[in-house]
Amino acid sequence: MACTVVSLLSIFLLCITAAQGRKTRHLNNEWLTSYPVLNDIDGICKTMVETQGYTCEEHQVTTEDGYILNLQRIPAGRSGDKADKPAVLLQHGIFSDASTWLANSPDESLGFILADNGYDVWLANVRGTKYSSGHTSPNPTHTVYWDWSWDELASYDLPAFVQYVYHYTGQRLHYAGHSLGTLMALAALSQEQVLNMLRSAALLCPIAHMNQITSVPTKLAADTFIANDIYWLGISEFNPSGDPGSNFVHEICNTLKVNCENLITLVTGPNCCLNSSTTDTATEPTATKNLIHLSQMIRTGKIAKYDYGEQGKNMQHYGQAVPPVYDMTAIPNEFPLFLSYGGQDMLSDVNDVQVLLNDLQDHDSNKLVVLFKEEYAHLDFVRAINAKQMIYDPMIAFFNVN
Ligand SMILES: *[C@@H]1O[C@H](CO)[C@@H](O)[C@H](O)[C@H]1NC(C)=O
Repeated sequence: MACTVVSLLSIFLLCITAAQGRKTRHLNNEWLTSYPVLNDIDGICKTMVETQGYTCEEHQVTTEDGYILNLQRIPAGRSGDKADKPAVLLQHGIFSDASTWLANSPDESLGFILADNGYDVWLANVRGTKYSSGHTSPNPTHTVYWDWSWDELASYDLPAFVQYVYHYTGQRLHYAGHSLGTLMALAALSQEQVLNMLRSAALLCPIAHMNQITSVPTKLAADTFIANDIYWLGISEFNPSGDPGSNFVHEICNTLKVNCENLITLVTGPNCCLNSSTTDTATEPTATKNLIHLSQMIRTGKIAKYDYGEQGKNMQHYGQAVPPVYDMTAIPNEFPLFLSYGGQDMLSDVNDVQVLLNDLQDHDSNKLVVLFKEEYAHLDFVRAINAKQMIYDPMIAFFNVN
């Protein structure tokens, strides 16, 4: 990797220049009293929801640490009938955004299916994604903007979304997350942060303990990030489809002597049921610090806050030499959980999910629904053409009684 580091530095300078064009929007923080409803001309509402014949609203919320995030709302089903059931907040995973819940046909995509079942659907987009790239400070530097990991997604973004929907609708909501969207929820729930505003949580491909993942490229990437963490932290933003992110991805493929076109399968597992004519490979960037944090979890198997690697720095951030651990057994036993995972998933692998289920062994048995699909891999849970029958119908049955 050493020789590529030098050539990547020049690309890094280009990245800084590009990032200075990043749009910055100002907004006051009064989500309690003002509800900005935007009409974004090229946003998710206009391009993915209204085109399917659904009404859609763009909303905006500012986190306590100044990130301006967008949410989309589908307040009625295809028939035009307004939702008569509570809100559901859908939280996407890493390298993705709200479009993940809308990508298939309305009969196959969870966002539309929930709306057609009478739920008030809210789609979250975390910091750093295309539609949530604003910040309250007029010119946040690239380095400052991207200084976060999933700790901040769990402690700022998720509470901002949940509080906004809770106050807007005036009632408690359901949560559904995929992949990193499950880790955000598990971390927040273990700290009782948003519990009183939530009815239940559905976790698709739960990410918690990660040291038994079976994806070889992901393990190699994690080792590489940890070995060169100082260099990678200097990059701040990791965009897999831009430089130097794509160079990194190609290095991984070269090292493993695999065709990069097969990388999605090697990372997520052999997805059984994707629509072969949907070749959408759009990806969103994330913070390099987030990837290093996940790499630390892959190495240790622990669910802990970001490790600064030095006792002094950890002391400074946490008041203790080692990062605090998120205690999964602290999630209240009576909180309704729906947890679904797949036998072919290489990221949310069955062995690691079993460790999470062991953490939850004291959970009230009538408040924990576990749905295992042997043939499903990581992307099937959001993109399979039969996910409605396999996963979403049982999930909606769970929401209906909680
Ligand atoms: C696959 O996607 C195409 C294009 O979006 C669509 O026309 C077709 O109905 C889909 N097939 C299935 C089985 O969902």
